[in-house]
Amino acid sequence: MSFTAVTAGSRLKASPQDWGALRDFVHERTGVYYNDACLGLLVSRLEPRLKSPDARGAQDLLLRLTYDTSGSEMVPLFDLAAPHESSFLREPEALEALTTEILPAFRERGTARIWSAGCAAGEEPYSILYQAGSAVELHGIRLEVLGTDLSPQCIAQARRGEYREASLRNIPAERREEILDGSPPMYRVRPRWMEGARFESRNLIEAAPGPENAFDVIFCRNVLIYFSDGARRKVVEMFHETLADDGYLILGHSESLHGLTRAFKPVTFRRGLGYRKD
Ligand SMILES: C[S@@+](CC[C@H](N)C(=O)[O-])C[C@H]1O[C@@H](n2cnc3c(N)ncnc32)[C@H](O)[C@@H]1O
Repeated sequence: MSFTAVTAGSRLKASPQDWGALRDFVHERTGVYYNDACLGLLVSRLEPRLKSPDARGAQDLLLRLTYDTSGSEMVPLFDLAAPHESSFLREPEALEALTTEILPAFRERGTARIWSAGCAAGEEPYSILYQAGSAVELHGIRLEVLGTDLSPQCIAQARRGEYREASLRNIPAERREEILDGSPPMYRVRPRWMEGARFESRNLIEAAPGPENAFDVIFCRNVLIYFSDGARRKVVEMFHETLADDGYLILGHSESLHGLTRAFKPVTFRRGLGYRKD
């Protein structure tokens, strides 16, 4: 779908130039970049904002966004800017690598500090705490997991620990009850997995680097895939400064640092790949 096709088909009060300006605004504030082929997604995401009875078109929205000091325009935009698709035990190879290959190396330290950056509604931090539970018992390591996301709605849900069926789809049937309690349509994470988790709204593109050595492992999976190269580079530099010297960065299956930085060393796990701070 091309830029022109999207804008020509749109019933909204927006010209191709307006959509271009909104796309640039979203990119500047979040790092998320909708190229021409994906612009239809941005249009469908922002449609509800332009359809409201008081909406006066894209130019007006852009103006309100630009001068929004209260957050009343920006916060909904942050909820709409990127997909929040996630699920428990997603891409389990990385969780296995954490448990069997990364955490044992931190045995001496007693505590492992993990950041799930772009954690959506908390499925990833809770999966980390659940999956690594055996390592915690085995090696006597304490886990502290910080989950952050741009979307305040996602963070509020993560704090409640409440999920619908779709988020549970990757959990083998026999393990479901170990992780969550409840019945359709709503399930709740068991309190023991909520104990080590903390959640904050945080924009990766604006986050200041450091404090240095703040985290031993950073998971940032299926987030940078939506960013422009420039935004990816900026965030990866911030991760580098924030990681402990021997810390690990774990990206999603389809993501890599190729062409972005040489500041990390690729590490091959038994299943999957990660990066170690060089
Ligand atoms: C597809 S979800 C991935 C969730 C999880 N990491 C996983 O792999 O299942 C991407 C998340 O990144 C968040 N995100 C996008 N841009 C962000 C930014 N600039 N700062 C923080 N989070 C961001 C979105 O709000 C969304 O919840």
